Amino acid sequence: MRSVDDLEVAGRRVLVRSDLNVPLEDGRITDDGRIRASVPTISSIVDRGGRAIVLAHLGRPKGEVNPAYSLAPVAKRLEELLGRPVRFATDVVGESAQATVAALGDGEVALLENVRFEPGETKGDAALAQQMADLGELYVGDAFGAVHRAHASVSGIPALLPHAAGYLVAKELDVLRRLTDEPERPYVVVLGGAKVSDKLGVVTNLLGVVDRLLIGGGMAYTFLKAQGHEVGGSLLEADQVDVVRGMIAEADKRGVELVLPVDIMVADAFSETANTKVVAADAIPADMEGLDIGPRTVEAFSAALADAKTVFWNGPMGVFEMKPFAVGTLGIARAVAATSGLSVVGGGDSAAAVRQLGLTDDQFGHISTGGGASLEFLEGRELPGVTALQD
Ligand code: 3PG
Repeated sequence: MRSVDDLEVAGRRVLVRSDLNVPLEDGRITDDGRIRASVPTISSIVDRGGRAIVLAHLGRPKGEVNPAYSLAPVAKRLEELLGRPVRFATDVVGESAQATVAALGDGEVALLENVRFEPGETKGDAALAQQMADLGELYVGDAFGAVHRAHASVSGIPALLPHAAGYLVAKELDVLRRLTDEPERPYVVVLGGAKVSDKLGVVTNLLGVVDRLLIGGGMAYTFLKAQGHEVGGSLLEADQVDVVRGMIAEADKRGVELVLPVDIMVADAFSETANTKVVAADAIPADMEGLDIGPRTVEAFSAALADAKTVFWNGPMGVFEMKPFAVGTLGIARAVAATSGLSVVGGGDSAAAVRQLGLTDDQFGHISTGGGASLEFLEGRELPGVTALQD
């Protein structure tokens, strides 16, 4: 795979696909981690006299122009972080994009509007890929968080232009390979987040690799149910209970230590002001729901992490966005940060959680910008955006 360093960019129009999909609240960026992570590649192009034309998506606007998903606030932040002007085009391949690109000088940066405003983007439409490719002469794939998507700007354009991988994609792949190629042991994986069904593939694959698997967050309730416990009003994927039961048996057969919550912070409403209490994991009241792991679980998970030499963590342990239910995620973040080996935090949510809770990137070996992408990598699935960058 060629690196952006190998491209002769001076005086050339270089399309850069970045992942600038950041969380926004009332038009304000609440975590700019992905923009920061995209800066080195863009800077390297413009520092060498290239003309950087950045392509990116924001949210899931479903192929329609929707101002709520405009990249305009991102353009501003990118400008601040790059320390140079960013020309913003108000469409993807229309008049504004054409004019912006035509006016771009050497060493200048343009950001085009949300590629997902084009209906062909998520369909991987060849005609759209060609229209975007026509705006540039070279392509750099740096959107690690989107490499699992066979979208026009991710895997379509590199088939049409000389291409290379940006620094972020190269760095992310390098770290993730360390997790799959002979990881130092004990290798401990912590999974959380809402949905078991999103994580089935990765759990199945990890059972053949890890020493310990810790399950918290919303997905844990389906595991508790599979163990025969009632979970009250907690998140439950009833149609996955049998599958999860099979996984528990498989973990046992393979000698993988599966660590589940032993206590739960339950609430009588999904609200910051709800009445709460900590109960044993097998005694969740029928009229309450689990919104965080309890303190004994934080202790048990921390103990299971203490001697780890390799750690991968994806997904919060509770509804960390609400203060009363952030304790579990914070506890696990601290325990992961305290490990002495390679610690990798995977995913936009977990990365945002870590920063929101006041921990810093340098407390971890690596904070991945890709949630779905890193999980699919660990599942052993082909990543279209990576395959497309191969020579
Ligand atoms: C992400 O947020 O994980 C990436 O930006 C990809 O976004 P998507 O899941 O909407 O494709």
